[in-house]
Amino acid sequence: MTTLTIVLTGACGGIGRALAIAFASAGHKLVLVGRNAEALAALRDGLERPRSHRYLVADLSSAASIIELCTDIADGSAVDVLVNNAGTSSFGLFTETDDAVIEQMLQLNVLAPMRLCKGLMPLMRKSQHAMVINIGSGFGSIGFAGFTAYCASKFGLRGFTEALQREFANENMAIHYLAPRAVNTAMNSANIVAMNAELGNKADEPELVARAALELLRCKKSSNRYLGWPERFFVSLNALFPSVVSAALKKQLAIILRYARN
Ligand SMILES: NC(=O)c1ccc[n+]([C@@H]2O[C@H](COP(=O)([O-])OP(=O)(O)OC[C@H]3O[C@@H](n4cnc5c(N)ncnc54)[C@H](OP(=O)(O)O)[C@@H]3O)[C@@H](O)[C@H]2O)c1
Repeated sequence: MTTLTIVLTGACGGIGRALAIAFASAGHKLVLVGRNAEALAALRDGLERPRSHRYLVADLSSAASIIELCTDIADGSAVDVLVNNAGTSSFGLFTETDDAVIEQMLQLNVLAPMRLCKGLMPLMRKSQHAMVINIGSGFGSIGFAGFTAYCASKFGLRGFTEALQREFANENMAIHYLAPRAVNTAMNSANIVAMNAELGNKADEPELVARAALELLRCKKSSNRYLGWPERFFVSLNALFPSVVSAALKKQLAIILRYARN
């Protein structure tokens, strides 16, 4: 496989770490992005061939920080692949969610991937293997009570990805959307884990997401990948018959609201 230079955001998080390990083990060069220099250095030093990777610190909720990041990336290397993985979530009743939390989520989950694409695409257009992988979520296709702001952000990311796929249909750049179901990472509080257990919702390990991302690296045509069964089926069902999914979720609402009020 060709050695690719991959910019990976949220590199120190649960899924980000698994992606970094999988990409580095496959021989790729990484630009690891996160907010904590020490954690990034420790991650880099633990990867295969640590000296072929570098890391950059950036707060992706700030437009100015993203502009600076794109300049630093361009100064240091070519870029083949951008993986927009950094993200945040919040669980609770919509009317009780702080405006600041909603704003931060939209900044990080939707605006940051858009800004990074805009900032890095001129560089990526020079690559023969140009690719964007946007890490979405099943909640980017199914509105779920208690996750209103998160759903809004991931629906936004999915819409952005779909439009970009169509705008780049004649270009040599693949735009992928990779949507995991629940994953065992720090993003999910004990409260969410307990709710998922009571609802019978399964969760995957981050390594499964990393394996799917590795497969996408070989895929030169834009694609959408939804992980997990029956979640994948519900994504299609919700698109075709949303009232059927609404009725099924209404039966679970009392449980969801009990945890959301927690
Ligand atoms: N876990 C799940 O159940 C699940 C399911 C579907 C989709 N996803 C998606 O998968 C992606 C990764 O999630 P995860 O489960 O790995 O979450 P995580 O363990 O909480 O990691 C989140 C990452 O985002 C980074 N981040 C947060 N705020 C940031 C900011 N302002 N600027 C820059 N980076 C920031 C964090 O960086 P620091 O290291 O600097 O804190 C961290 O590395 C997200 O997009 C998430 O929506 C997760």
